[in-house]
Amino acid sequence: MCGIVGYFGKRKASEILVDGLRRMEYRGYDSAGVACLHDGVIGLVKNPGKIKGLREKVDGSDLDSMQHAHLGIGHTRWATHGAPNEVNAHPHLDASGHFVMVHNGIIENYKEIKAGLSQHGIECVSETDSEVLVQLIAYCYKDNLEKAVSEALKKVKGTYGIVVLTDKEPGKLVAARCGSPIVIGLGAEETLIASDASAIIPHTRDAMYLEDYDMAVITADGVKMFDLQHAPISREVTEMDWDIDAAEKGEYAHFMLKEMFEQPSAIRNAIRGRLDFEMGTAILSGLDFSPRDTAQINRVLVVGCGTSMNAGMVGEYAIEEMAGIPAEVEQAAEFRYRNPIVTPLDLVVAISQSGETADTLAAVREAKHKGAVVAGLCNVVGSTIARETGRGIYLHAGPEIGVASTKAFTCQVAVLLMMALKLARGRRMPRHQGEELCRWIERLPELVEKVLAQNEAIKAVAEKYADKQNAFFIGRGYLYPVALEGALKLKEISYIHAEGYHAAELKHGPIALLEETTPIVALLNNIPGKEKTMGNAEECKARKAPVIAVVTEGDEATAEGFDDMIVVPDCPPCIAPIPTVVALQLLSYHIAAARGCEIDQPRNLAKSVTVE
Ligand code: AGP
Ligand code: GLU
Repeated sequence: MCGIVGYFGKRKASEILVDGLRRMEYRGYDSAGVACLHDGVIGLVKNPGKIKGLREKVDGSDLDSMQHAHLGIGHTRWATHGAPNEVNAHPHLDASGHFVMVHNGIIENYKEIKAGLSQHGIECVSETDSEVLVQLIAYCYKDNLEKAVSEALKKVKGTYGIVVLTDKEPGKLVAARCGSPIVIGLGAEETLIASDASAIIPHTRDAMYLEDYDMAVITADGVKMFDLQHAPISREVTEMDWDIDAAEKGEYAHFMLKEMFEQPSAIRNAIRGRLDFEMGTAILSGLDFSPRDTAQINRVLVVGCGTSMNAGMVGEYAIEEMAGIPAEVEQAAEFRYRNPIVTPLDLVVAISQSGETADTLAAVREAKHKGAVVAGLCNVVGSTIARETGRGIYLHAGPEIGVASTKAFTCQVAVLLMMALKLARGRRMPRHQGEELCRWIERLPELVEKVLAQNEAIKAVAEKYADKQNAFFIGRGYLYPVALEGALKLKEISYIHAEGYHAAELKHGPIALLEETTPIVALLNNIPGKEKTMGNAEECKARKAPVIAVVTEGDEATAEGFDDMIVVPDCPPCIAPIPTVVALQLLSYHIAAARGCEIDQPRNLAKSVTVE
């Protein structure tokens, strides 16, 4: 779930490992550790809490004096089994002290394995599911590490990305994956292993991605890949194209702030070369359906989680409205487990910034199994969902480091609008309407800039509400998913209990919670349904709840009688989610900043959720 890093080369391993962990901090974690091997001795340092603490512990430890340890592994843990303390932190040593391993994911049958090991007198010391795996590897070991690893992995149920080393074979690292990403960076006379490209990019851009059930053996002779039956396999070397500066926050106080301000350029990148004004359509080479194929699509099912699911709902509305194709958005885990009706005439669109979300990946596999056409909408190039869907569209938003997703959402919506446009033009939309939509999509960066320019004004509003405990966001039509996303942003970074509701739904129950300390963010943009939402906002006011009215530029009168106002530029309903959500992102950010929250790494959250 969290960060793995491994190093084999000529430089000081502990430094590279700790730096790699620092670069993956954004993924969210609760404890960290590193282990190095030098002169037949394994040195291990673990620390509950932040990397800074780990670094301090490493300095002056045995590890630090291991100037010549050129081989090691590191981990940031996002606890699934057992409290985030030092014993449970990774790397885990086996009982003999000869094997050490880091693991991402969940070993589902760990209790069974633990009981089996216990019968052989092997006891685990931590509460984690992970430790059983290193104990099992040690138990399976005869004279070859990779054989022991594959032996052990055959007994395991669940998900894993692992890297393991042993002092019995000091010149070797073994990595394996199933459901949890592992990428290998091929540098000059050195090899890096990581769960995330950000730990590798400062050292090399040449990378190999492991696929499920792949195992990589890293020695001084280079990298060899095998499947779990020991048959050699080869994986393509690809070039990672992310800019290293993109993974640094520069002059900004937080990655989230930087990423919100990057939205105009991120959206520009997402739409670049994809609008065909002449034909009034979108060119999406990843969705290379012929007009006949398009005509045959029976239904579009959009799956995703969290922010990606909220973006998917905007897509659902746009596809139904413009293309006249029935569309539905569904939480990916629910889609996977409720045995949905899916036919080969359905197009399933899986949305995932990271491309690694376990629930979304499971939905992709289920949809493929049922014969649907499956397309991915991912940001991370080469990610599992991007690779498994085989077709799809990249966002090109650049790395999103802040745990709270911002630029990915706006780029996802921009891409979904282009997808709706393409499907619509293949069905019933006239060319001139398509051309008009192209123009609006092209203007998205400018609309977002207008909202960003109001940063200070939004900050002033935010500071008035920073001490509140509860909040509601209401909207209807295209702004309903924006209300959901606004509430998600606020709760995840400020820890204020926030709920997004359809404006009409509030009176069916939640209105009971309103009082003068419960602010309502009402999305009153000048689009169809505005008057009704105004009525709903009045209902809130009548119950003494303060109302922050989000209104369209030129229509400020709508905010009269309400407590505060945020203005967003005028645009058609399907375009409105993008500038509006940017205003809500800024509002959440400033509320969280005023509360002194850890904005880029909110408590309990992980950037990439690779467990179901
Ligand atoms: C967004 O702010 C959240 N941190 C979270 O809801 C996220 O969108 C979700 O986990 C899905 O991630 P993905 O897009 O990488 O699949
Ligand atoms: N399940 C493991 C644990 O709780 C690994 C967690 C992770 O992926 O960070 O230790």
